[in-house]
Amino acid sequence: MTTMAPDTGAQDTAGYEAVFDAAVAAEERIEPRDWMPDAYRATLVRQIAQHAHSEIIGMQPEANWITRAPSLRRKAILMAKVQDEAGHGLYLYSAAETLGTGRDELLDKLHSGRQKYSSIFNYPTLTWADVGAIGWLVDGAAITNQVPLCRCSYGPYARAMVRICKEESFHQRQGYELLLALSRGTEAQHAMAQDAVNRWWWPSLMMFGPPDAESSHSAQSMAWKIKRHSNDELRQRFVDICVPQAASLGLTLPDPDLRWNEERGQHDFGAIDWTEFQEVLRGNGPCNDQRIGQRRRAHEEGAWVREAAAAYAAKHGKATA
Ligand SMILES: [Fe+2]
Ligand SMILES: [Fe+2]
Repeated sequence: MTTMAPDTGAQDTAGYEAVFDAAVAAEERIEPRDWMPDAYRATLVRQIAQHAHSEIIGMQPEANWITRAPSLRRKAILMAKVQDEAGHGLYLYSAAETLGTGRDELLDKLHSGRQKYSSIFNYPTLTWADVGAIGWLVDGAAITNQVPLCRCSYGPYARAMVRICKEESFHQRQGYELLLALSRGTEAQHAMAQDAVNRWWWPSLMMFGPPDAESSHSAQSMAWKIKRHSNDELRQRFVDICVPQAASLGLTLPDPDLRWNEERGQHDFGAIDWTEFQEVLRGNGPCNDQRIGQRRRAHEEGAWVREAAAAYAAKHGKATA
């Protein structure tokens, strides 16, 4: 879309709103300089920021295992994966910047607890198998959530998601392959893989957010074509994808109620413990304090890098001029 509204202050915006609505209805992309409703902009900033924060906080649980990876090959793969997540954060903070909200402001909100990141990263990585379970289940759930975002109505976000999804699919496969190696290994390795899946399965299902009936932002986001499918639809899709994959891994999913429903053509699954979800969201998960503490420390310790980069840019800019 290319219709650009001049800065008209309090002037009536009904005409612009109609152009915006028509563009969204016609599956056109809204671009940074197009007119957009304030609430659409605010919703996007909130969602993209939470997504960006999740990418960079999500580096911590896996980085925890880089020094202890069991082989050079595994270490190289894990380092590449963790670096990818930093890159995802960068694309997303840049997408938020196109909406007029800078990275400093968003990081400040993360560090002061005014913006959230995905609760999944408040769980600890206790064994090497957790790296596999995170890749298979957490990156797998992220892909299920994010593939529809490649068609999001806001152009910069949609385009960032295309690249991110390609990398997430590599992450998912490395996790699957790692778990397969453990599952086919010794009895102790198989048990380690099963234990990791037991711990990560339910939190992964929570990644899709609260049930549709309780999801406060869903309806408006669907109308704006930011979101394309409901939380419950995506969760169901994820369960249906994982069941046959677990079978080929030789691992079981920790849910006695999980079974194929012939009538629905989908799997039925057990009730999710939403009390646990709410508790982690409130800051009472196993690692909330550790994650945010580490993030703040990294930011403070990186101050000299930001200062040096700014000084270099200023000097370089002057020289060019
Ligand atoms: Fe990512
Ligand atoms: Fe990832």
